[in-house]
Amino acid sequence: MGSMEKTRVLFVCLGNICRSPIAEGIFRKLVQEQGLAERFEADSAGIGPWHVGEPMDPRAAAVLKRHGAYFDHVARQIAPEDFETFDLILAADREVERDLLRRAGRHREKVRLITEPWGGGEVSDPWEGDEAACEETYLELLDLVQRWLERLSGGPEGDS
Ligand code: 4NP
Repeated sequence: MGSMEKTRVLFVCLGNICRSPIAEGIFRKLVQEQGLAERFEADSAGIGPWHVGEPMDPRAAAVLKRHGAYFDHVARQIAPEDFETFDLILAADREVERDLLRRAGRHREKVRLITEPWGGGEVSDPWEGDEAACEETYLELLDLVQRWLERLSGGPEGDS
């Protein structure tokens, strides 16, 4: 297993302060819990520049802390090298997916809507909401990230 290439997953939303850091925190926690740290690596990015250099939204931080999934995060914008570095680039919504596809060049096949295998809905954007909206987003992302990890690690996968 030591020589096995890691699978690198990048979560992307608009600002990289709410949805994609929440998804990254969940992914990191699950990978740790399941002993998969040798096999997977995760990061997150935003399509916009507005929050570059900032920590995650305080509501997102509170939700991740409550669930033991907090990690140190500095917001960044997607960069051209990301399409080389990462194996799978998961978009939080269709606007993000469209933007990523425009940037992806020959790596379009790496870009997926995070909900696409399970109906193609959109993860709710908590940006305008309160901490309860962030909790709702966390629960949606927990389900989706668990499913992706099962799929990627070859484990069982829920069928609903
Ligand atoms: P995120 O939330 O994409 O989940 O990080 C947003 C953060 C910032 C903005 C929009 C959504 N914004 O317009 O600045």
